[in-house]
Amino acid sequence: MESSGILGLGCYLPAKKLTNKDLEKIVDTSDEWIMTRTGIKERRIAPKEFAASDMGVEAAKSAIKDAGLKPEDIDLIIVATVTADMAFPSTACIIQDKIGAINSAAFDINAACSGFVFGIVTAKQFVDSGLYKNVLVIGTEKMTNLVDWTDRSTCVLFGDGAGACIVGKSKARQIVSYFIGCDGSGSNLLRLPAGGSRTPTTEETVKNKLHFLKMEGNEVFKLAVKVMADAANKAITKAGLLCSEINLLIPHQANIRILMAVAKKMGLPEEKIFLNIEKYGNMSSASTAVALAEANREQRIKKGDIVALVAFGSGLTYGAVVIKW
Ligand code: COA
Repeated sequence: MESSGILGLGCYLPAKKLTNKDLEKIVDTSDEWIMTRTGIKERRIAPKEFAASDMGVEAAKSAIKDAGLKPEDIDLIIVATVTADMAFPSTACIIQDKIGAINSAAFDINAACSGFVFGIVTAKQFVDSGLYKNVLVIGTEKMTNLVDWTDRSTCVLFGDGAGACIVGKSKARQIVSYFIGCDGSGSNLLRLPAGGSRTPTTEETVKNKLHFLKMEGNEVFKLAVKVMADAANKAITKAGLLCSEINLLIPHQANIRILMAVAKKMGLPEEKIFLNIEKYGNMSSASTAVALAEANREQRIKKGDIVALVAFGSGLTYGAVVIKW
């Protein structure tokens, strides 16, 4: 029987790599510190002239091709990003034009690093309701624009990239359950203070580096372990499954220690956790999108497998999607 599922996947990673060794020349850090504390070896840096939409376009094109569709077949584009090309128009509108998806509606969502999971859940509602047939969901981020390259506690963590999927009616790769949540009381823990209506851009905000992300790393770490495990458990329970029945957990790639703690909390062995953090760092909403596309491409998922996608991010937002491949 057909129900909402994943029709196609794609991703785009900029070619330029910034290694931990390169970072040693920029801030007071070491490859050893970054590897042991985060699991990150290198991250990708998008070309200067590339914005979130440019990376999103590449990921979108490959997902559309993978689904055997044409841009005209897309009914809706949802872009999850915190690094939109501009405050408005939405990055989704820019991508719609660039790929020629002339029949689609388009909007952005901001759920930070959980954005791709929230995007899939949103897409599923449109497909289930019968309003739309093919929904393109994109997670695209140019995080390296948002980090203060003199702040070693944040600049080592993030990278650029984009991933995409098409959600539509399908006999395979069906979305069997999901859960999304939020704890707004943690909204101060990871934020970009200036440039919005609260603190508009002034010479002063630029001078005070308020256009770079600020993070309470330790607090975020502790909450991340709790909310990711909780979100995954809720979605898995809702699907009538046990954690032990999960074949592959695809988590938001924030910190390898967070991911190992989540695995332990869920009773999952290390080999059931998909990891690509070493290569890309944290790409916010693009992390789960790229990880899902790579896990599929690397044949880490077999037909009939149960896959759980789980994420958390600024907000705090969190969510999980269970897919039967
Ligand atoms: N290189 C070397 N030393 C560094 C460093 C770096 N890149 N960054 C921080 N340090 C130092 C600190 O200054 C501190 O030094 P001090 O003890 O002399 O004050 C020491 O390392 C320990 O800092 P601490 O913040 O306690 O480290 P940590 O083990 O908590 O790791 C994070 C820091 C940021 C890696 C970790 O807290 C984390 O990953 N948090 C979650 C972040 C996250 O996931 N964000 C995205 C959410 S979507």
